[in-house]
Amino acid sequence: MPYKMSRPMRYDINVSFEQNKKEGPYYWHQINDKNALIEETLGEYGIETDFFWYTTKLPLWVAAWPLFNEKYMQAAAMDGFSVITRKTFRSVERRAHRNDGSFLWHNVVYLDKDQPLEIGDMWWTLHGTLENMHDDAHTTITNSFGMGSDVPEVWMPQVTAIESWMNEKKKQTIASVVASPADWWTLEQLAEDYTQTALKAESAWARIVEFNLSCPNVCSSEWSIYTSPETTMFICKYAKEHLSPDTKLLIKIWYNDKAWYKLLVEPVLPYIDWIVAINTIPMNVVDDEEKQALPGWLRTWTCWYAIGNLAAQAVWFLHELRKENNRTFKLLWCGWVMSPEAFMAHIDAWADFVLCGTAAWFNPELPVQVAEHIRDNKIQLKIG
Ligand SMILES: Cc1cc2nc3c(=O)[nH]c(=O)nc-3n(C[C@H](O)[C@H](O)[C@H](O)COP(=O)(O)O)c2cc1C
Repeated sequence: MPYKMSRPMRYDINVSFEQNKKEGPYYWHQINDKNALIEETLGEYGIETDFFWYTTKLPLWVAAWPLFNEKYMQAAAMDGFSVITRKTFRSVERRAHRNDGSFLWHNVVYLDKDQPLEIGDMWWTLHGTLENMHDDAHTTITNSFGMGSDVPEVWMPQVTAIESWMNEKKKQTIASVVASPADWWTLEQLAEDYTQTALKAESAWARIVEFNLSCPNVCSSEWSIYTSPETTMFICKYAKEHLSPDTKLLIKIWYNDKAWYKLLVEPVLPYIDWIVAINTIPMNVVDDEEKQALPGWLRTWTCWYAIGNLAAQAVWFLHELRKENNRTFKLLWCGWVMSPEAFMAHIDAWADFVLCGTAAWFNPELPVQVAEHIRDNKIQLKIG
C-alpha cells in the first residue's frame, strides 16, 4: 500500500518528478512565513555565522534538492531556512527519468535499509517500496531523477525573482549548475559548459554558484568528475577566470577517504570558496518482484538516515585537512540531518553550516524546531 502523506510534505513520492514540479509544492495553503517566529524564538540565543554578505543565527540550509522553481524556493525560505540551493540546472533541457507512457510513475522510494551504510555496501542491491518501513529517525530514501533541467530561458527569470525576494529577507540563494557533456567532449568543452551555465546564472543575478561534480544518477559523465582532481581543478580554474571576481564558487563533492581528498582539495582551493559534502550514495534498487524499482537505471541515489555515517566521515576527513594545512575554507555538512539533535551533532563536530535535503520536504518544521532547541538549551555560539 502506498505511503500516504501524514503531514505537510512538500513533495509527494507517490507521483512523478514532473507531476511534483508542475503541481507542487503540496500543502501550499499551509505554508506561512515562519521567519519572524524564528527570530522571536531565538531572541538573544543563536549560532552566529556569516555567509558572504550576511550573518545568521540559524546556519541551516537547504541543499541542492527538489526545489524546482521559484515557488518551491519561496516555500523553503518561508519555512525559515537561511540559505536555499536551487535544484541543479543545465545549459540544455534534460527530461527527468520517467517510465515511457506513464506520467504518474514515481521517482522516489523508501529503502529497506535500517543500518548506516558502510563504504563496502555501495552498489549493493536493496529493496525499495512506496511504503515507509521505518520510523522517522531511521528512514532512508532513494531516487532516480536523472537531474532533469529546464532550458536557461525558463530557469534564469526564476533565479532573478527569487534572488531579489531572498535579498530583501537577508537570506541567500545558491545556484547549483552542472555540465551536460557528450562522450566525445574535450576537457575544455566540459569546463566551458560549466562556465557558460554559471555565467547565465550570474547574469540572472546569482551571486553564489555551486558546481555539482558528484551526482551519481545521470546518463553522461558529469557524475564522476569529482573522481579526477585534475579535471575538477581545470574546471574550477577555468570558471574562476571567466566569472565575475565577486561571484562565489562552491563545489559539491562526494564521499572519499582523506588521502584522496588531499589530492583533490589542495589544487582546487585557490579557485573555490567553500566545499559542500556529500552528495547521495549510489545503490542498486529493486522492487518486491526483484525488478528495477525506479525509472532510469538500477543505480539510484540514496540519502538520509543510511548515509549519515559516510557524511560524517567525509566531513571529518575534510576538517582534518583544513586543520593540518591551516586552511580557512568553510565546510558545509550535508547528509542525514532530520532533527535538532542531528543538527547540533554536526555543529558540535566540524561543520560551519548544516545542509539538509530530504528533511526540507519530510520535515518543513525543522527550522522552527532547531530554533526552539537553541532557545531551550540557551545556546550562544559564534562560528568562524
Ligand atoms: C530527490 C533528490 C534530488 C537531489 N537533487 C540534487 C541535485 O539536483 N543536485 C545536487 O547537487 N544534489 C542533489 N541531491 C543530493 C542532496 O543535495 C544531498 O546531497 C543529499 O540528499 C544528502 O542530504 P540528505 O541526507 O539531507 O537528504 C538530491 C537528492 C535527492 C534525494
